[in-house]
This record gives sequence, C-alpha cells and structure tokens, in this order.
Amino acid sequence: QRIVLAYSGGLDTSVAIGWLAHATGAEIICVAGDVGQGGEDMEIIRQRALACGAVEAVVADMRDEFADEYCLPALQANALYMDTYPLVSSLSRPVIAKHLVQAAREFGADTVAHGCTGLGNDQVRFEVSIGALAPDLKILAPVRDSGMSRDKAIIFAEEKELPIETTRSNPYSIDQNVWGRAVETGFLEDIWNAPIEDLYSYTQNPDTPRDPDEVTIRFEAGVPVAIDGKQVSVLQAIEELNRRAGAQGIGRIDMVEDRVVGIKSREVYEAPGAMALITAHRELENVTLEREQARFKRQVGARWSELVYDGLWYSPLKQSLDAFIADTQRYVSGEIRMVLHGGRAVPTGRRSDASLYDYHLATYDAESTFDQSLAKGFVRLWGLNIKTAAARDQRLSGD
Ligand code: ARG
Ligand code: SIN
Repeated sequence: QRIVLAYSGGLDTSVAIGWLAHATGAEIICVAGDVGQGGEDMEIIRQRALACGAVEAVVADMRDEFADEYCLPALQANALYMDTYPLVSSLSRPVIAKHLVQAAREFGADTVAHGCTGLGNDQVRFEVSIGALAPDLKILAPVRDSGMSRDKAIIFAEEKELPIETTRSNPYSIDQNVWGRAVETGFLEDIWNAPIEDLYSYTQNPDTPRDPDEVTIRFEAGVPVAIDGKQVSVLQAIEELNRRAGAQGIGRIDMVEDRVVGIKSREVYEAPGAMALITAHRELENVTLEREQARFKRQVGARWSELVYDGLWYSPLKQSLDAFIADTQRYVSGEIRMVLHGGRAVPTGRRSDASLYDYHLATYDAESTFDQSLAKGFVRLWGLNIKTAAARDQRLSGD
C-alpha cells in the first residue's frame, strides 16, 4: 500500500511520514510543491523527506502553472475575499491538490494525506479539491484525525532522531507563495495586539522615507504582458512587482476574517505584487469595461472570491463564473502607469486602444460633443418614479 503525502518540510509533515507509515504499514511518497514560496532550497526539503523515512520524494515545480492558471484568474476577477484578502493560500491548495492526485496515479497510491489541522480552511480546500479530481482516492489527515498534536510531534521527532528543528522557535503559522504570504497564531491571536515589524518578509516598512518608484504595466486581454516596456510572463510580472511594490511597503493587510468552519481568525498578510497588479488591472477595467458589465463583474468577483476561499475551486458555479470573467477581459488591453510609494500603489496614467473614455464627451471645454439639451428630459424621466412615490407619501401622510 502507498500513500502520497503533501510535504512542506516543516515539523508536522516530517513527523507525519513516520506516523503514517507506523499507523498504516504503507510506503510514504512525499510531494513538495514549489509555488514560488522562496525561502528554503527545495532539494534540501526533498532530502529531508527521504531522511524522515519517505520511500520517494518529489519536488513539483508549479510556479508557472500556479501563476498562469490560478493567480491570473484571481487577478482578472480582482479577487479580494471580504474586500480585503487576495486569496493567497486559497489559490495554492487546488494546484497542489492536482499534483497530489497526479502523483497518486503515477506511484499507484490509493490514499492522499495532508498535515492540516481541523481548525482551518486548508483541510477543506485540499479534501474538496482532491474529491473533485479523484473521487476514488482516500484521504488521511493525521494532525487532525489521529491525535498527532504538536507536543507529540516534537517527542516523536526526538525519539526517532528526525533531522528537523523541533523547538518552537517560530511561534507563527506561515504559508507563502508567489501571490503573497500569510502569518497567523502567536501573539496575533489577541486581536488588540498590533503586528510588529518582525512578522513581515515580502515588504519593507512603508513609513521609512525613500524615493517613489514609477512603473508602467501593459495588459493584453486582462493578462499582464510587459513592465516598463519589457516583456514578462505572468510569473515574472508578479515576482518583479513583489520586489518593487514590496520595497515600498505595499500590500500589508491585518484583518479578522470568516473561516469556512465558522471561526473568526486574525490574519496578517503581505501581498505586494498581487495588490499592485489588482490596482492596475482594476483601473484599466475602469477605462475599458462598459458600465453595466463592470458593475455586474464586481459582484461576480466578490462571489468568485468566496467560492475560492471556501475551497470550491473545482466547482460548477466557479467554472461558470470563470467563463463570464474571461469574456469580460476581451478589451482589457492597454497601459497603466502607477507610482509606488509609502505603502500605496496609485495609478497616475492610463492609455488603451480599447478605451471607452472619450475626451470629446467628457470635456467641460468648448470642444464638447456631448449634447447637454438631452440631459434635461433624461433626468426628469429618470426620477419620475421617485417623484411619483414621494407625492403619494405626502398625500397619505396628510401634509
Ligand atoms: N487564513 C488564510 C486562508 O485561509 C491563510 C491560511 C494559511 N495557512 C496556513 N497553513 N498557515 O487562506
Ligand atoms: C491549518 O489549520 O491547517 C491552517 C490554517 C487554515 O487552514 O486556515
């Protein structure tokens, strides 16, 4: 029997290797996903899995796939859960789930395992995604379901002399990928406590005095294709803006959010590239989308974000909304110039061949082609129903 384990290189999933092998007698195959989290060398993580008893360990480079097929749709949706959180972890779970399923097929495993707790969203996202892609696979969650607590994990690691840092030197639970970084637990669990500078790694302090950075982003049909005139892939666009917007302290978020399982939780995020790209993309949509389509798209984007947050990436409704969003991107082509400074990305210029902005209609100058005489009748009819209702109210209240 074989089990494919989603492996991060941390204490919990390292202990889970021996734990699962002992509990089931199965061979453990570890899959570590590179979703652009940076930090530790993926080869070191792979070696650690083998040292902890995995019979096989693979590193899957998901970076371009993650950027093109997961981050890009989120950008096109201007996706912000609760109007605030750019879905960092919510986006990586479905791509990791896809690779876990592929590995299970390749290695002939009938079970997939993950190291999530029962408190969070990630268990939901992994299991619903795996179920949607491979309804026949069994799922194990040792941390949640077989009493593998943190304390027991540390004892287990010490007994088996596993090559991992077992002290609780880092009190935070951190998840990061190219779209951003999530920090939770520790002193943040008191929601009155302000975040400290120490928590951050993708962003500099926005209050430190420094020169502004001006950037021009070119989009074609909703896809970022060039930065300052240089062609980029979606992954490169995110990486470059992580650097440049991060250096200006852009994309720090501190919020209390509603988890799927009914808990409210404190979260600190940093997503400099994501927030800068969403700001630019949204501004280009302001220029190129027709008003009613744009208004409706905002509602679709909010719903799309909830579905993805809630672990329903591979759901029929999400697919239908994808089709709508994709259709709206046809004319979202052109350039946005932004100033990055003091924690904010501020659009300062826009140009597009598909622009709906018409200088001759918008101008207050003499060259105006807007026929103001039409406005008078329009305004009367537009407010006619309101006026009629107000007159009725006046009549019945006897004033
Ligand atoms: N609350 C965020 C989300 O649900 C972040 C989760 C971070 N995951 C983690 N294992 N630290 O998307
Ligand atoms: C976890 O509990 O595994 C991490 C937090 C989350 O999934 O939201």
